[in-house]
Amino acid sequence: MNDNRRFALPIITPAVCFLFFALTAVSAQETPANGTLTANPVFRDQCAKCHGKTAEGRSFGGPSLVSEKVAATSTDDLRGFILNGRGRMPKYGGKLTSEEIDTLVQQIKALNKK
Ligand code: HEC
Repeated sequence: MNDNRRFALPIITPAVCFLFFALTAVSAQETPANGTLTANPVFRDQCAKCHGKTAEGRSFGGPSLVSEKVAATSTDDLRGFILNGRGRMPKYGGKLTSEEIDTLVQQIKALNKK
């Protein structure tokens, strides 16, 4: 009886460790700040209805966020559009935190660098 337990422990311990590390790796990948714009839940909830799930434009006149115009726009101006709105673009100043807006701006910039 006791002999069986002594054999099982060295097998189970590494298995449990491996499972723990595998799960940690999966949850780390879901952190929005490391992801792309289209994978950011804030973008999908707030912006995709006008700018499209691929950010290349969709409805209510939302223009593509992948364009020469956006590429030429400074990060400060992009932040300003999202904070204060422009034309039919709603303002997000009171709705999103400045961290969320900064992440969006960085991800929009990253999308235009390809
Ligand atoms: C109700 C529809 C709508 C929603 C929701 C919306 N936008 Fe817009 N967005 C627009 C429109 C329309 C414009 C063009 C504004 C203009 O120039 O008149 C625009 C312009 C922009 C621009 C400037 C693009 C350029 O070519 O200069 C950026 C950047 C932008 N939006 C980002 C966002 C982000 C980020 C979100 C989510 C937080 C968002 N938008 C949500 C409609 C929307």
